[in-house]
Amino acid sequence: MTSEAEKLIIFDTTLRDGEQSPGISLDASEKLEIAEQLARLNVDYIEAGFPVASPGDFDAVSLIAGKVEGPAIAALSRTHLSDVDRCWDALRHAERARIHVFISTSPVHMESMLRMTPAQVLEATRSGVARAKEHTSDVEFSPQDATRTPLDFMIEVLTAAVEAGANTLNIPDTVGYGIPWDFGALISYVRKNVPGDYIISTHCHNDLGLATANSLAGAQAGARQIEVCVNGLGERAGNAALEEVVMAVKIRPDQFNGMYTQIKTEEIARTSRLVSRLTGYPLQYNKAVVGRNAFAHESGIHQHGVLANKKTYEIIDAESVGQKSSQIVLGKHSGRHAFSDSLEKMGIKVQGDALTAAFARFKELADRKLDITEADLEAIVAEELGIFTTDTFVLEELAVTGGTVGTPTARVVLSTADGKVEATSEGNGMIDAAGKAIQKATNIEASLIGFSVSSVTGGVDALGDVVIQLESNGSKASGKGVSTDVVEASARAYLNAINRIERRRSRNSEGSEGEVGP
Ligand code: KIV
Ligand code: ZN
Repeated sequence: MTSEAEKLIIFDTTLRDGEQSPGISLDASEKLEIAEQLARLNVDYIEAGFPVASPGDFDAVSLIAGKVEGPAIAALSRTHLSDVDRCWDALRHAERARIHVFISTSPVHMESMLRMTPAQVLEATRSGVARAKEHTSDVEFSPQDATRTPLDFMIEVLTAAVEAGANTLNIPDTVGYGIPWDFGALISYVRKNVPGDYIISTHCHNDLGLATANSLAGAQAGARQIEVCVNGLGERAGNAALEEVVMAVKIRPDQFNGMYTQIKTEEIARTSRLVSRLTGYPLQYNKAVVGRNAFAHESGIHQHGVLANKKTYEIIDAESVGQKSSQIVLGKHSGRHAFSDSLEKMGIKVQGDALTAAFARFKELADRKLDITEADLEAIVAEELGIFTTDTFVLEELAVTGGTVGTPTARVVLSTADGKVEATSEGNGMIDAAGKAIQKATNIEASLIGFSVSSVTGGVDALGDVVIQLESNGSKASGKGVSTDVVEASARAYLNAINRIERRRSRNSEGSEGEVGP
């Protein structure tokens, strides 16, 4: 039996640090959808955002705090007292809330960014943590850029944080500078030299590709919380990947003194797909645990071995991470009841108008595709939910002509709150023509900076999943679209990105976004 002391707390920061990945901008409803899936995955903490960063972040944190049950909800705050109070305002409706206070402690950050002396940083730590403690008993403190902070000063700051009431001390490797054995030694040093009752946490970035290794070295040295992002998202090269940390501990308990997490690992693949779809970040094929090749065997010798016994070349059971072969769930004769029933079995709750929109899209798809699998359903529902909640422009009609002779052209009809708009354009291919027609109809100029297409499932009638990145006036946005027709999927993805640009514009004109990123 495992004891409580051996539990490894999983603190998910996909919605905060993960959302800081370039080009990702999730709105509140998308964040809520991800948070609900993280709750099904059974993470201990969801860091839902950084409330003072923007009104959008504040709203998303308070929506999640008010609605998501199960995990405790955390939000990030600088040490400024007004930031801590605002953070609490966003969190106050959570069943269990944590304020995560941070300040930089490395010389380069203190001198060049904060323009504060070490004494001032020490004082800000005390006051910020103490203020957070007035709001909630659960306070985490992070000395940003810990791995480039002189040890004596870090110990002084961490001791002050514990004295002021912090009960989790997070050691961020903000710039991914750590090497497993030296990061592990750092965690041991903190444990030995900071008196008091607290849990040590790791927060590792992946600049040298070592985020997971460093996090695990931290756990071996005494950390009992690991901060992670689904699919390893996060600033620059990302954070430690949730799926890698969780599965390493599960597959090799012998290396971690029987430590365990409470993650429902069968939900990992679905969580990964949802995050990939909503963020527009495609998964690399050979990504550990969740990549499509993670359980594929190419060479004859491997195939032979796996057919005889899966254990010859697989250390993880695909089903244990939800990577089972996609099951056929519905066909063209299935009705609304069977549709919502299948979604419910998959753990997706859709009701009212959103259900009607998703069902209409399913029927359209069923006319073109013989068998609809779980993965297909997930893809269309995820897309419909996004479209349904907040989009300014909705695709009504698309007609394209093209081929090896003549100029490719496209005509689109979009509906808006003020009625229908339509436009026609030529292009250097049907996808290009469709994108240009959408730009004309929406009056939003953008350039295409990224395009990728993959299939949701196999077979000749597979759904094409297109992810597009656009840039408009220096702002980047991604969009995704699915359809059995790649041109249609591309047009949907294009419009999805345009809608995000439009949403961001109206958000920015409602409230200013301050320069307060961590
Ligand atoms: O990387 C980092 O230092 C952070 C902190 C705010 C914890 O994300
Ligand atoms: Zn970080």
